[in-house]
Amino acid sequence: MMDKSGTSPGLILAPLRGVTIRCFRETFAREIREAGFTEAITPFIAANQGVDPLKDRELRNHAIDASIPLTPQFIGKDPSALKDSLIRIKEAGFTTADLNCGCPFPMVRNKGRGSGILRTPDILARMLAAGCETLGERCFSVKTRLGVEKNDELLALMPVFNAFPLRFITVHARNARQMYEGECDAKAFLAVREASANPVVYNGDAPLSSKERPLMVGRAFVRYLGERDDARELLKRYAAASLEELHAERPVIGRMKELLAYWKDMPRWRARWTIAKTARSLQEFLLAIS
Ligand SMILES: Cc1cc2nc3c(=O)[nH]c(=O)nc-3n(C[C@H](O)[C@H](O)[C@H](O)COP(=O)(O)O)c2cc1C
Repeated sequence: MMDKSGTSPGLILAPLRGVTIRCFRETFAREIREAGFTEAITPFIAANQGVDPLKDRELRNHAIDASIPLTPQFIGKDPSALKDSLIRIKEAGFTTADLNCGCPFPMVRNKGRGSGILRTPDILARMLAAGCETLGERCFSVKTRLGVEKNDELLALMPVFNAFPLRFITVHARNARQMYEGECDAKAFLAVREASANPVVYNGDAPLSSKERPLMVGRAFVRYLGERDDARELLKRYAAASLEELHAERPVIGRMKELLAYWKDMPRWRARWTIAKTARSLQEFLLAIS
């Protein structure tokens, strides 16, 4: 097992719920490594009282580092539930974890989770304390945004983050109101990095070719898979692995469409997407993409 505690981050595969899921990471392990990724963070898992994170599909019977060094990400606002979750993943051999402080969806943030936790600095501090105390120094990280409504909110919170020995803070250089579109704010990002006592990872619209480190990349990697000459083979491989996991065609088709949606504007996928999105069986889907 590879211990990531204390190691500096390089190129991190971003958590994309529904996309960079476990089956994706395992199916495309070679492509992920060849693209230069050094580690991955799981899409978020709820840290709720009485919920065992090891039962989540992301972590169930997980062979640690089977494909790429992996950090489970949690979302929540209950420090004791987070602590319980971290104890469980530690028992399973994980040495690192990440806290989602960036999810922008109003339903999440209005309940004080995801980016909403930036509005409750006392709870944020207790979550960070739970993470650092349970896992140890430089083992707990955070993924966040520049703010909820404005790009200087995170900067104002740096004293809270600086009080803890975090492994790193990943900053998606947008505010939550922007969701996933609009300009990234490099200047506001640099101000946060300057003020941070912990390593800061850049995230947001970075191309796969970027040499910046540390760096987190998500959508550019997903698009890159669709640009490869063997993209159709990759998709077929993913469908087969998903069918083995899910044992039903409908959720597999849903998963394939989720991936294909990232490729649909590429000339070679446009016509295929138009047919594939209406597919009702896996056979129809596979025919549409071939
Ligand atoms: C469909 C989708 C799902 C996402 N799921 C998560 C998630 O579970 N946890 C998280 O911290 N960020 C999540 N994000 C945000 C990404 O990790 C990343 O911050 C964002 O896509 C910007 O990086 P990129 O331009 O390199 O993709 C998600 C983004 C998208 C588009």
